[in-house]
Amino acid sequence: MRNQALLFINGKEHRVAGAEAFDTLSNYLRYTLGQTGTKIVCEEGDCGACTVLVGRPDSSGKELTYRAVNSCIQIVGQLDGTSVVTVEGLAPPRELNAVQQAMVSCHGAQCGYCTPGFVVAMSALFETRDRLSEQEVRDGLTGNLCRCTGYEPIIKAALAVDGSRMMRARDLYPSAPMLETIGAHCRDSLTIEHGERTLSAPVTMEQAIGIRSERAPVIILQGGTDLGVQANKRGLRPPLLMSLNGIKGLDEVRIDAEMLSVGGTATLAALETAIRLHAGSVFSPAHGHLAELANILGIFGSPQIRNAGTLAGNIANGSPIADTLPFLFVMEARLELTGRSGTRVVPINAFYRGYKQLDLEPDEIITRILVPLPPSGSEETLGLYKVSRRKDLDISSFTAAIRLQTTARTITAASVALGGVGPVVLRMPSVEALLKGQTITQDLFERAGQLARREINPISDVRGSRDFRLQLAENIFRKFYYERLEPRREMREA
Ligand SMILES: Cc1cc2nc3c(=O)[nH]c(=O)nc-3n(C[C@H](O)[C@H](O)[C@H](O)COP(=O)(O)OP(=O)(O)OC[C@H]3O[C@@H](n4cnc5c(N)ncnc54)[C@H](O)[C@@H]3O)c2cc1C
Ligand code: FES
Ligand code: FES
Repeated sequence: MRNQALLFINGKEHRVAGAEAFDTLSNYLRYTLGQTGTKIVCEEGDCGACTVLVGRPDSSGKELTYRAVNSCIQIVGQLDGTSVVTVEGLAPPRELNAVQQAMVSCHGAQCGYCTPGFVVAMSALFETRDRLSEQEVRDGLTGNLCRCTGYEPIIKAALAVDGSRMMRARDLYPSAPMLETIGAHCRDSLTIEHGERTLSAPVTMEQAIGIRSERAPVIILQGGTDLGVQANKRGLRPPLLMSLNGIKGLDEVRIDAEMLSVGGTATLAALETAIRLHAGSVFSPAHGHLAELANILGIFGSPQIRNAGTLAGNIANGSPIADTLPFLFVMEARLELTGRSGTRVVPINAFYRGYKQLDLEPDEIITRILVPLPPSGSEETLGLYKVSRRKDLDISSFTAAIRLQTTARTITAASVALGGVGPVVLRMPSVEALLKGQTITQDLFERAGQLARREINPISDVRGSRDFRLQLAENIFRKFYYERLEPRREMREA
């Protein structure tokens, strides 16, 4: 057993124990190491000023793959077995990398406070590409805010970069020697204690279940994109934390003809990438449903949030406005829960018992999320919706999923889930019953919207008033009809 986390920072090995292991990475960089290039502004994952690159072994285990992450909501101990690159380490001493050079040439900085975060986030985009389109730049920088420039010079800088001339993190810091050290050091489980607090990082599921059973309540710290914010803003200091990152294979995402299967530590970015790389038939309903999910993931938080946050964390956090839940509800997803007495599988539709009340025993871990996919040849339509005050990097006011199975224009089965309208995501059995067996008409979807409105009892909060949410619940059926089902649309597309 180890009591020191091992991580590389700009290629230099660090072994961290005690209080520092519980510090945020941004504080550790600035106040322990004196590397003040990484800035701290919001401390809740919203502004991107604290962005660093975190390298983890790829699927071959032979290379480190670097991704942008918010260092203000990661604690140092959770980064055991990684390579971190900060703005100071993006180029050899006294040199600028191609992104930094372009930011200078295009006047991408004014006060400069956001600049290191932009530079690191932009450099992350060039880890895998030589050139970016304007849309890729805009999408890739949604996690970074600037109050001075109006963004145009920053976007121009990104478009000016020729990534083929850039020293990338994986070139600057060769993976092999770091992976050798990580492999030798991190094969044992990690336990760091400081005062009342303990952070564990087991390397097998048996160890993880043992830790969770012996010393309840052990809080699983996965991406930290929910827990990190609660720690910074609400002073959350759970005495017992456990990271599952050391357990090999638990991050696997598999897609076959029948099932999407997502491991308990798979990040949202890994899920999005797996869907985009999946070579299914573009004419199959499974392909359409997965593409719909990828679109929702594309507007989930920011790249930094998706690179750290996990699907299991989104489910276990239990928020009624979690973006992935309506999809999982209408797809009848199942959760594999592993605990002291073995593994059981629970339908997600039965998992939530009330606001943040889960059918999850204190010793259980979500080890896999199983999403059955529709068979090829079936006729299906799925619409996923997220309504938020801003398009990018915003929490939803309202979410919805509408799934129809049809024969010709008759609905043979309907599934509807709405989020942000009650303490949990809600299935709408009465609306589903209204739709089932009916021929698709505009009037039917008008009536479905009116019924949904009568069936829910939303509250007013900072993200929207009760009346706004009632109206959204009604309108979403109209939108679904016009965008997905209206006969004139099919004729236009034919
Ligand atoms: C700036 C910002 C933007 C965000 N945007 C969105 C958004 O657009 N849409 C959205 O839905 N959410 C959003 N979130 C919330 C958050 O990113 C997601 O809920 C994310 O999926 C959480 O995953 P995580 O791995 O980071 O969870 P963590 O913070 O590590 O954990 C969250 C909860 O899940 C539990 N947990 C984690 N893994 C497991 C497991 N395997 N088994 C059992 N319990 C587990 C933890 O103990 C904890 O209770 C945002 C957060 C931030 C900070
Ligand atoms: S300081 Fe704003 S995202 Fe970290
Ligand atoms: S240059 Fe001032 S915040 Fe971006």
